[in-house]
Amino acid sequence: MNRIQAVVAAAATVTALCAPWAAQAQATAPDMVLARNLGATCANCHGTNGNARGDMKSLAGMPADKLIAMLADYRAGNQPATIMHQIVKGYTEDQIRLIAAHFAAQKPAK
Ligand code: HEC
Repeated sequence: MNRIQAVVAAAATVTALCAPWAAQAQATAPDMVLARNLGATCANCHGTNGNARGDMKSLAGMPADKLIAMLADYRAGNQPATIMHQIVKGYTEDQIRLIAAHFAAQKPAK
């Protein structure tokens, strides 16, 4: 094995050793940056960080279970909607869990 081969082999070993570790970290802690970015797609209508203006419903501080249940109702067509039944179909269940965690962690403005 020449010097370059040895370095490549060592790097591959380090990568292989770290991979399960990284996967475990991902499984235990939600990625709150990704959660915030996904939640930002709701801001046009539900306000910055889920604090809506006017008559629109705020999402800030809503318990994650409640938000997930409401979105499931829209997805299933159990809750009449003008737009949310379509919007919810653009997200996976995993993305919805992240979005719910993000809004649950926001402070309601009022
Ligand atoms: C284009 C505007 C728009 C966007 C974008 C939008 N919503 Fe909505 N949302 C609404 C409207 C309007 C309603 C009332 C139900 C309906 O008519 O569809 C609503 C209702 C809701 C409700 C029910 C609130 C309650 O207390 O009754 C939840 C939860 C919700 N939206 C979550 C979200 C989430 C999460 C996102 C981002 C993934 C999102 N919405 C993006 C317009 C929007």
